[in-house]
Amino acid sequence: MKWCFFTFLLLAQFELYMVSAMLPRNPVKDLVKPLGVSSILSPQDFLSFSYYHKTCPAAEEIIHQKMAAWFRKDYTLAASIIRLHFHDCAIRGCDASILLNHRNSERTAYASKTLRGFQVIDDIKAEIERKCPKTVSCADILTAAAREATLLLGGPFWEVPYGRKDGKTSIAKEADLVPQGRENITALIDFFQERGLNVLDLVVLSGSHTIGRSSCRSFLHRLANYKGTGRPDPTLDRNYLRNLTRSCKWSSDLVYLDTTTPKTFDMEYYNNLGKKMGLLSTDQELYSDPRTEPFVSAFTSQQPDLFFNQFAASMVNLGNILFYTAPNESEIRLNCNYVNPAPRKKANPPRRS
Ligand code: HEM
Ligand SMILES: *[C@@H]1O[C@H](CO)[C@@H](O)[C@H](O)[C@H]1NC(C)=O
Ligand SMILES: *[C@@H]1O[C@H](CO)[C@@H](O)[C@H](O)[C@H]1NC(C)=O
Ligand SMILES: *[C@@H]1O[C@H](CO)[C@@H](O)[C@H](O)[C@H]1NC(C)=O
Repeated sequence: MKWCFFTFLLLAQFELYMVSAMLPRNPVKDLVKPLGVSSILSPQDFLSFSYYHKTCPAAEEIIHQKMAAWFRKDYTLAASIIRLHFHDCAIRGCDASILLNHRNSERTAYASKTLRGFQVIDDIKAEIERKCPKTVSCADILTAAAREATLLLGGPFWEVPYGRKDGKTSIAKEADLVPQGRENITALIDFFQERGLNVLDLVVLSGSHTIGRSSCRSFLHRLANYKGTGRPDPTLDRNYLRNLTRSCKWSSDLVYLDTTTPKTFDMEYYNNLGKKMGLLSTDQELYSDPRTEPFVSAFTSQQPDLFFNQFAASMVNLGNILFYTAPNESEIRLNCNYVNPAPRKKANPPRRS
């Protein structure tokens, strides 16, 4: 049985590889142009596990300790950090552009409204700057923090490759391209593919919705008059619907994404989909679409290993999304909220009159 699923996944991956090899690369170009960058880089050429071994050997330990401390104070931050990492990598690659805090930056976008955990990254960055000034990028810190968050919630471990640079550009309207829960599966597949991620990555990474919460506004459209039918979404379990209706007094109210085991990183999310208990329509549709359903079924096979191993692999893929930026367009930020100040020109000594 076990091997059967593995073989299936391997075959499916191979098939996806073949399909993506045959697809024209144009979608990438189309996406990339408006963003002002010219190509997706091959991460192997830039990232490495040993990147900070000499320059900042303490970095991972600091991130580990800080994440554990914040988690003890507020466990909900762990899910928020994982989501923050996704929103970072989805726009301009993993370059910490989501962390820039200025007028009209990604962080101010509608799709960023419920992002949290910025203070955690600021705190880690401050400590790392004390130990190794101007060495570790905010993008690397966020990537490693997402791995720590997964572990703290009971999820899998993986080695994080390092060497990302922080971008200098962050534009709100680009952040609104990130899927918000009402898209169809074709749109989701396209969005992932444009960033070098395949259908398997889509299904596996959606599995992060095994933890964390959503505001009601992201699924309110399912509760009544779904797609103009005058009825709720028929793929929503009746009892679950009743509970959600009761929980959503305000569109800003929060509901667990995984209704059965909301605080643990496990594969219950996939089991819920089979019981019409996916929260977002983008979750539930993974179960009904023939392109994604086979992966969902594989992950409900009572083998946590399969989901865990693939989640680790897909998180590395997510963290490896890098777009080309000219050397003068990237840096190691001193403060994750701001682009480094331009080096000050030497002022001429005041002339005596
Ligand atoms: C496939 C497309 C995806 C869609 C449509 C989607 C949509 C959403 C939405 C609507 C929310 C709730 C936001 C709110 O209303 O407060 C959410 C939360 C979350 N998402 Fe996703 N997401 C997607 C992919 C991902 C990926 C790839 C990851 C991570 C690798 C991720 C991790 C999370 C986490 C952890 C939360 C909970 C955040 C918290 O508790 O603060 N999502 N997502
Ligand atoms: C899916 O969404 C895209 C983008 O919103 C839209 O153009 C397309 O027509 C939709 N496809 C289906 C089958 O509804
Ligand atoms: C609905 O809420 C009740 C009471 O909180 C709970 O026992 C039940 O499991 C929930 N049902 C679903 C489908 O979420
Ligand atoms: C980087 O250099 C290019 C070409 O030399 C220039 O057009 C661009 O404005 C520069 N960017 C920044 C942020 O200085």
